[in-house]
Amino acid sequence: MAHHRSNNGINRNELFEEWDSLPAVRNMPSEKSSTRPKPAAGRKPKRDPQQVITELADQADTENSFDFSYHASRHERLWITNSLVGFYDDHWIDDVLRLLKGGKEANVYQCQANPRTLGDVDYLAAKVYRPRQFRNLKNDHVYREGRINLDSEGHEILDDRMNHAMHKRTDYGLKLMHTSWIEHEYQTMLRLHAAGADIPAPYARGNNAILMGYIGYDDMAAPTLNQVSLSPLEAKLLFERVVHNIELMLVNERVHGDLSAFNILYLDGEIVLIDFPQAINPHENRNALRIFERDVTRLCEYFSRQGLRTYPRSLAADLWKKHGLSIKPDVHPRLIDDQNEQDRVYWQNLQQD
Ligand SMILES: Nc1ncnc2c1ncn2[C@@H]1O[C@H](COP(=O)(O)OP(=O)(O)O)[C@@H](O)[C@H]1O
Ligand SMILES: [Mg+2]
Repeated sequence: MAHHRSNNGINRNELFEEWDSLPAVRNMPSEKSSTRPKPAAGRKPKRDPQQVITELADQADTENSFDFSYHASRHERLWITNSLVGFYDDHWIDDVLRLLKGGKEANVYQCQANPRTLGDVDYLAAKVYRPRQFRNLKNDHVYREGRINLDSEGHEILDDRMNHAMHKRTDYGLKLMHTSWIEHEYQTMLRLHAAGADIPAPYARGNNAILMGYIGYDDMAAPTLNQVSLSPLEAKLLFERVVHNIELMLVNERVHGDLSAFNILYLDGEIVLIDFPQAINPHENRNALRIFERDVTRLCEYFSRQGLRTYPRSLAADLWKKHGLSIKPDVHPRLIDDQNEQDRVYWQNLQQD
């Protein structure tokens, strides 16, 4: 599938207006919910933050010649430079052209691909995370359950000191966990792309960013599915296509975890699934069926608005069984923590079913 097209008649202003009203992605609360202690009132920070930024910016200016045409404020420019300079040094990108979507969690930028490395690929998309994005993830244990922690090379973290830091959620530990989230997103994309799923091709990742195939037009990204109205025939075909992708994910041991019409791009009659940091392994996560049902339900909500008759509960159960996943995960009672509210509810539900 060719994922880049010239803009053929979509009203760009209309789309941008709609983007402004997008709701925040669930499970990704704002910085406000941070539980990190605030500095005591009246205490002066050791150094003026503005001065630190200026120094860093000067360093960034002198250490490399990564200059880009996108007009950013000084703060944003520094953030982009630090997050994307590795992709520039490795000859993936030549330029940052525009911000496609800015959010509380991440900004996605359209970049000019380096033609010597990428031939006839014109553009790439770079998703750059806010530094503290995953620190504030509410209920992150729901997604992290059964997951191993990965370092920036994609290897399991076995070092005791590092594991202790993550367990204690020290600053260093949180930094490692941030890297691990991005690494999981990237590994999921590698795996699903290799399996032939309709997702952007993953090219590279850094400590704070993922570089992937660009889905869109010369001057704007493809709209998300929730911005598009479908004919009945197209709705039927695209629903089947998404279900095919969901099945492909199950075969490859992944449940998206935040699937909805907001995380599916639509380009010239085809769909592309995006946004995988919360993807989970259905064999390792006890919450998998619930998360899967929620994904299927949100998807069905969109398609039923497009006039399709959908049966989310039975569809989710059928797909689950078809791929050999058990409806009641067999958890040894000793693994259930009676001090943990979530575990108690889980145990009670098991008794009732
Ligand atoms: N590969 C891509 N090509 C074009 N646009 C993209 C791409 N990935 C993301 N976007 C744009 O950025 C938005 C946010 O990306 P997403 O991965 O959903 O991050 P989040 O929802 O966590 O902010 C998308 O809705 C889309 O507009
Ligand atoms: Mg999203």
